Amino acid sequence: MALAVNCPFEVPEPYCWDESFRVVYDNLDTEHTNIFKAIFECAKEPSSAAKLKGLVDVTVDHFTDEEGMMEKAKYADLAAHRTIHNEFVAKIKGLSTPLSDEVVTFAKKWLVNHIKGTDFKYKGKL
Ligand code: FEO
Repeated sequence: MALAVNCPFEVPEPYCWDESFRVVYDNLDTEHTNIFKAIFECAKEPSSAAKLKGLVDVTVDHFTDEEGMMEKAKYADLAAHRTIHNEFVAKIKGLSTPLSDEVVTFAKKWLVNHIKGTDFKYKGKL
C-alpha cells in the first residue's frame, strides 16, 4: 500500500484542528475537528482497534456530508473530490492494528493536505 503523501503544509503538533483549517461551513469544520481528534487518538493508542474504527467512522460520515453538500451545490469538482475520498477510505479500511508510525504520519499529513489543498477549493461555493 502506497502511504506517501506530499504535504507542503505544516502539520500541527500536538495534532489538532485550528483556525487555519476553517472551511467556513460550521458542520464541516466540526467534522474536520473530529477527524483530527480521531487521528490523535490513533496516534496515542496505535494498538486500539476501537480507535481505528472510530477514525473510519468519523471519516466516512464526514465525506458523506461533504459530498452531499457538493451535490446540492452542483459543485464542478465533485467527481474528482469523491475519488480522493474513496481512495483514503479504502486505505484506512485496509489498516489493521497496531498502526505503524508510518501509517499515523500518513494519516496526519493526508488530512492536513486534503483540507488545505483540496477542501479549500470549495470555500464559498457550497
Ligand atoms: Fe473534508 Fe474532502 O474532506
